[in-house]
Amino acid sequence: MTAQPLDDRALRERMLPELPPPMAAHIDRVVALADELARRHHLDVAATRLAAQGHDLLRAVPPADLLARAESRGLAIDPVERAAPVMLHGPLAALELAERFGLEDHAILEAIRWHTPGHPDYTREAWAMFVADKVEPAKVDRTPALAPIRELADRSIEGAALAYLDLRAREAIELGWQIHPQATLARNALLRAGHTAR
Ligand SMILES: [Fe+2]
Ligand SMILES: [Fe+2]
Repeated sequence: MTAQPLDDRALRERMLPELPPPMAAHIDRVVALADELARRHHLDVAATRLAAQGHDLLRAVPPADLLARAESRGLAIDPVERAAPVMLHGPLAALELAERFGLEDHAILEAIRWHTPGHPDYTREAWAMFVADKVEPAKVDRTPALAPIRELADRSIEGAALAYLDLRAREAIELGWQIHPQATLARNALLRAGHTAR
């Protein structure tokens, strides 16, 4: 018998014992929206769902613990991540999903690794997962400013991603927050590719 490739439902079963119920519910909503967006835009639905399922494996781990794990593994830690170690939950999840759950697909692991800031080399499936994470229904309910981005996602995945990065950049400037350098590189790449946040 040959091993079956990991799919999002098998991964969900294996992740559930490690997740607080609200985190599992968030992931379920992200998978559902990622699926919807992937179908609408004719993307690889299985890859988009698998990235969505894995993305927040470590989101509930306390920030100090994330920082300690990243340091002990010799991960490159950006100063912005050191100031806000919650940002390390993506890079560490990519490592652990490969090691503990046998997730091997490079593009899916990269999508998960960079799901907080985005990445200039993201595939369309990675952007679909990214957007689904940012505008899943509970987040739009909490933050009405996200509603137009959710609507835009039906017309353009990359446009919605750009609109989200614009929103967060404006917020960072208004509040005097740092911007993750990878978010700036990702935003620049979307602009260079001719996408618009409208
Ligand atoms: Fe996350
Ligand atoms: Fe998430």
